[in-house]
Amino acid sequence: MLDKFLSQVREQVLSNIESVIGQSNSIEIAMNYSALSKSKMIRAALIFASAESNKDLKKESILTLATAIELIHTYSLIHDDLPSMDDDDFRRGKESNHIKFGEANAILAGDALQALAYEIIVNDSNLSSDLKVEAVSLLTKACGKNGMVHGQSLDIENESKKIDKSYIEKIHMLKTGMLIQCAVSLGQLGKKYDKYYENFKKFGINIGLAFQITDDLLEVTSDKQTLGKNINSDKKNNKATYVNVVGFDEAIVESKKLSDSAIYEISKENISNINMLIELAKYITYREK
Ligand code: IPE
Ligand code: IPE
Ligand code: MG
Ligand code: MG
Repeated sequence: MLDKFLSQVREQVLSNIESVIGQSNSIEIAMNYSALSKSKMIRAALIFASAESNKDLKKESILTLATAIELIHTYSLIHDDLPSMDDDDFRRGKESNHIKFGEANAILAGDALQALAYEIIVNDSNLSSDLKVEAVSLLTKACGKNGMVHGQSLDIENESKKIDKSYIEKIHMLKTGMLIQCAVSLGQLGKKYDKYYENFKKFGINIGLAFQITDDLLEVTSDKQTLGKNINSDKKNNKATYVNVVGFDEAIVESKKLSDSAIYEISKENISNINMLIELAKYITYREK
């Protein structure tokens, strides 16, 4: 059931990405190279799954929001791989964007992907102005200087440093968790004053942290072929990771606990159509890539 759901999401988002990027200049080609390559599209899937209980969102707009978040996520990965960041030459099963197109084009492709995400939201004729503002506000908060960018900066600042559990959780929440949580909230667009909004929010916070813990675990347990990215990146950069801060066994326990708490948060009320969110919460912890 989850596999089918994920592949349907991927198919729709890929075809929308193709149509919104186009291929008329070198930056568009560099954008396509990363945005259309093999990825899980978890953030898009979370928007679709969360929107299953939101009757106010049209399916065209769900697709717009899902596409927007994947464009932003792709931008963040292109920049994350740059020599001045994690310096990784392999991503999504092929050469990283800057290896293929050069550093300047990779930076610009990332910038353009980010701008395009907001452009397609603003141009969605099925969304009211209020909902557009709400969507842009959720995304900017998750991605900007108090969200993902702050997390990425702390992630680099703390290379080779000894930090404690609460600090690594802060970094992980910021660099990865906030965008994941944002996906769940985007599916609930327009429901800010709904009595269950907080349940979705807490669900998102828990799976957001679980997602990055699993990412740290997979770098130790998996291989380049399966993940489509280098597995020696954290070690090479002396990163503080959940695994090296709390230990391998505790990292597994915490990730499972977070996914259980997320499922508890969303299931304790009588919210309809949340089955796929529950499946995704399990997948985020138990995934193999
Ligand atoms: C990788 O994200 C980077 C993190 C934030 C941990 P994903 O594991 O979702 O990567 P793709 O989109 O499937 O390539
Ligand atoms: C990536 O985190 C987080 C963002 C891109 C915001 P990592 O650096 O840990 O992820 P991978 O392992 O390169 O995918
Ligand atoms: Mg990084
Ligand atoms: Mg990285």
